Amino acid sequence: CGIVGYVGSQEPNGRPLEVVLEGLRRLEYRGYDSAGIAITGTADSTVAVAKKSGKLANLVEVLDASPLPAGTAAIGHTRWATHGGPTDANAHPHVVGDLAVIHNGIIENFAQLKAALAADGAAFQSETDTEVVAHLLHRAHLELGDLTAAMLSVVGRLHGTFTLLAVHASAPDTVVGARHDSPLVVGIGEGENFLGSDVAAFIAHTKEALELGQDQVVTITPTTVEVTDFAGNAVEARRFTVDWDAAAAEKNGFRSFMDKEIHDQPQAVADTLLGRTDISGRLVLDDLRIDESVLRSVDKIVVIACGTAAYAGHVAKYAIEHWCRIPVEVELAHEFRYRDPVVNAKTLVVAISQSGETMDTLMAVRHAREQGAKVLAIVNTHGSTIPRESDAVLYTHAGPEIAVASTKAFLSQITAAYLLGLYLAQLRGNKFADEIAEILDDLRQMPDKIQQVLDRADRVRETARSMADASSVLFLGRHVGFPVAMEGALKLKELAYIHAEGFAAGELKHGPIALVEEGQPVFVVVPSPRGRDSLHSKVVSNIQEIRARGARTLVIAEDGDDAVLPFADEVFFVPQSPTLLAPLLAVVPLQVFACELATARGLDVDQPRNLAKSVTVE
Ligand code: G6P
Repeated sequence: CGIVGYVGSQEPNGRPLEVVLEGLRRLEYRGYDSAGIAITGTADSTVAVAKKSGKLANLVEVLDASPLPAGTAAIGHTRWATHGGPTDANAHPHVVGDLAVIHNGIIENFAQLKAALAADGAAFQSETDTEVVAHLLHRAHLELGDLTAAMLSVVGRLHGTFTLLAVHASAPDTVVGARHDSPLVVGIGEGENFLGSDVAAFIAHTKEALELGQDQVVTITPTTVEVTDFAGNAVEARRFTVDWDAAAAEKNGFRSFMDKEIHDQPQAVADTLLGRTDISGRLVLDDLRIDESVLRSVDKIVVIACGTAAYAGHVAKYAIEHWCRIPVEVELAHEFRYRDPVVNAKTLVVAISQSGETMDTLMAVRHAREQGAKVLAIVNTHGSTIPRESDAVLYTHAGPEIAVASTKAFLSQITAAYLLGLYLAQLRGNKFADEIAEILDDLRQMPDKIQQVLDRADRVRETARSMADASSVLFLGRHVGFPVAMEGALKLKELAYIHAEGFAAGELKHGPIALVEEGQPVFVVVPSPRGRDSLHSKVVSNIQEIRARGARTLVIAEDGDDAVLPFADEVFFVPQSPTLLAPLLAVVPLQVFACELATARGLDVDQPRNLAKSVTVE
């Protein structure tokens, strides 16, 4: 869910409403099952609430029809449903008396709390776990007369994960927040202050921010920010400056954020590479903050991530093992956490996450550290939780990614993983310095080559439109082409709701080939013929095998690779590159394909059904 809070001095144009709606617009990628807002400091000293199921646009319609009064403080919420369906009643804020609360996370002991409250006469309007918190806060406020004190007295009774924001009509210049295993950051303004699930909530207004720690309560007024732990002791929060440009979170004339973010990719990769070498050409990863001796002694790497980030991890495995000769395992974070993995002080766990908030990944990070492993995070969002809880961080510089399906963050994650691999090779002396410099040179050419792929994408789009009625698409690849195939399939599932699967091309004959019938579209990611020859020829054989069984073959191959021509119904050529770096190019036509096909089907590519960009529950 996305959470925004604002407090400032009252203005005739009703700035709290405007700021919170703007913040929700920027956070809607965190969930769009319903949206709602509460305002205090109104002329009649009440708490004014509007909420509506569905996307934010539905709430805006409600507000247009019956505007809320102007006020001084507001909280807003965009929901990804957990307890209770996406109805108006289940939408946040939840109100009891003069108090309104919004929540991200899950209150695991809500059933017991609810039963006790109901026995004591509380009446419930919704099926949510959050409404329980509204009742508890309301009661605590009646007793204590102060919203911060009420929050402090309630948080200890809640089990599970939560970010909570609350306002009360009696405190029109105050918003109180609390966080436990769920994200919350503070934006510092002048005569106004902000709260948000992440910095995107307020970058249009301020770049100065405070990072809250685990189990902290924050009280903002127009001129003050007070942070305490759950026991009420004052704590110092770390201040940081957001380096994202608010304009980077705009569509800039593109049809969708996804379309724009696909086109941002040359820049995202270039920015991730920027400033990582010294004048002698040696890699320096300044922001890594981990002891070199630790990295030298690592004897195993485990990459943990979810979704697209996990496919970036698969690419990392091929590159790091080849360059550094360190065994690399890649595992979905939620599987890693619950299977008693073998990690110790010599294991480097690499957690990859765009948001830095994915709960499955965060829990895996904690588990790895408890086992004594060092954790290095590859993350895009500053001020997020995973880097805070890791031993080291390597930031990707993709800028804000708004579309739910990841594109530019994926390419940046792969790029950062290459940098990590080369850095480890440099530290451990696995490669001669000139060889590393050569690979870095190749890497620096990738943004231009990605741009060339984009410049040639019209044919991919045409093909996608002609396949708008497809009911199943398969994707094949070998070596680093395998994760590319899986990512291509994931994009199509996420965006177009078409059955799609990615396979290792070699596995084809062991089962998946049974799926191939007349007209079945199959994308094949072909490795460079200039790389290991056997790899290329094996994939070409795989294309022949499926073609012979009636498949419609859509081939991604390197410029000049004429060997594929006789067996391809369509070929999308990409510029030549070293095999290990090729995923940065080969995946781009697949992203464009999914985006265009979903658009042709009339779907919302930025906000696909049932998904959320940052999944902050396990
Ligand atoms: C969600 C998103 C995916 C994303 C995954 C991991 O499931 O819908 O697009 O790849 O989370 O997100 P992260 O922020 O950790 O990279």
